[in-house]
Order: sequence, then structure tokens, then C-alpha cells
Amino acid sequence: MNIIIQKLKRIYWYINLINRTIFNHGLIKVTENKGQWKKRYPPLKSLNKTAKLFNQINGKVIVEIGSGIHGNYSQYTGDSCLTWAKKTNAEVIKCVDLDPKMVKAVAEATQEFDALEAVLDDGLDFLSKTELKIDLLLLDFWTDEPDDSFGSGRAEKYLEAYMNGKDKMSPKSLILIDDTDHAPPWKDTLIVPAARKDGFKVIYIGRQTLLARGVEKPNI
Ligand SMILES: C[S@@+](CC[C@H](N)C(=O)[O-])C[C@H]1O[C@@H](n2cnc3c(N)ncnc32)[C@H](O)[C@@H]1O
Repeated sequence: MNIIIQKLKRIYWYINLINRTIFNHGLIKVTENKGQWKKRYPPLKSLNKTAKLFNQINGKVIVEIGSGIHGNYSQYTGDSCLTWAKKTNAEVIKCVDLDPKMVKAVAEATQEFDALEAVLDDGLDFLSKTELKIDLLLLDFWTDEPDDSFGSGRAEKYLEAYMNGKDKMSPKSLILIDDTDHAPPWKDTLIVPAARKDGFKVIYIGRQTLLARGVEKPNI
């Protein structure tokens, strides 16, 4: 049943795309398709590439804001905590979420990985108070969007998260932002220019955006 719903959603997405291209001159209504402007891809490839680069820079500490185990809930979430646990050499992985159900699900699914801790907290508070030196920061949390702000609320919250955590980022470090395949303003709109001022460079954009600092030749 889930697969049929996914397929119907995909067909609806393509009909909208054709409608937009032929009849609407490529203009996107902000209420359309939740603002997604190209075909959606699952995040797994990007998570794997990030894990590879994290190992290349000899990273040790990962902080994930917005965690959870979503299983079959949707092909478009990545259970990112499992990628960090299974595919990186991290010694410390903090998976922070403010939903106790998600924290419990992460704790249960990752029991065998000593490095990983599921933390119940508001991610923005966590970033303000942590004393960790972060080698990889994943930002993948939901935020409430005030009416008529069309993504600006998310853009501002993601910038706030970065400002809270930026002094904790290692000189050589990565920032991964999820859901960036979206018409602006969105999660990446304000954080990317702010991080670039601090020396981060954009490695790729798309379903996720990866930024790196102090990495000469990313080999991903
Ligand atoms: C898209 S899900 C995370 C998906 C996960 N990274 C994955 O790959 O499957 C977003 C999560 O953000 C959490 N969240 C929302 N606001 C938050 C906040 N301020 N701090 C921490 N977690 C938050 C939600 O409870 C939800 O579990």
C-alpha cells in the first residue's frame, strides 16, 4: 500500500512538473509541491559520501541535530545515525532530538555501537552548551513555519543553529544540511553564506548540501 501511495505521489509530481514547464513558464507557486523544484532523491548517497569524507579527514566527533529511526516511514529519510555508526570511524556520535520517541528508537537501534549516544534535547540548546569539538555537524531538524513566511523561518532557525555551534566546529570540519532541494528561502539560504565567511566551502548541493573547511582535495 505504501509503495502504491509513493508511486501515485510521484505521478502527481510529474504532472505538476509538466504543468509548470508548459503552462506556467517554470514559475513555482510557493504552495506547490511543498516548494520542491526538482526530482527528489533519497539522502543515502550523500550520507555515504559525507561518511567517506569524514573518515578521510580523520574526524572523531559527529553531532546530529534532528535524528530518529524512520524505517519504512518514507524512502526520503535516511536513518542517518546508522550511517555514522556503521560507516565512520567516529569515536563520539551525539544524535540529538527533542522527541522522546525518536530518542528511544535511536537508542534501541544503535545499542551495539558504543560511540553513539541518543540525546534528548533541543538541538539549538545542545549546540550552545556543548564543549565538544565537532568534526561533522548534520542539521536535519524540523521547524514550525510561521504563516506566509514561505521558508524564511527555516532559513533563520538553521542560521541560529550554526551561530550557536560555529565556535565548536574544528578547523577541519564538515557541515551537512538536509532537504536543500527546495526553492529558496529554505534551510540552506542563510547558513551557507554565513559558513562561507568562516572558511567553509560548498562541496555539493542537491538533496543535501555539504560544506567543508580545511579540506584540500575532497575525494568523494
Ligand atoms: C527529518 S527528521 C530527522 C531525520 C534523520 N536525520 C534521518 O536521517 O532519518 C527531523 C527530526 O528533527 C527533530 N527536531 C525538530 N526540532 C528539533 C530541535 N529543535 N532539536 C532537535 N531535534 C528536533 C524531530 O523530532 C524529528 O525527529
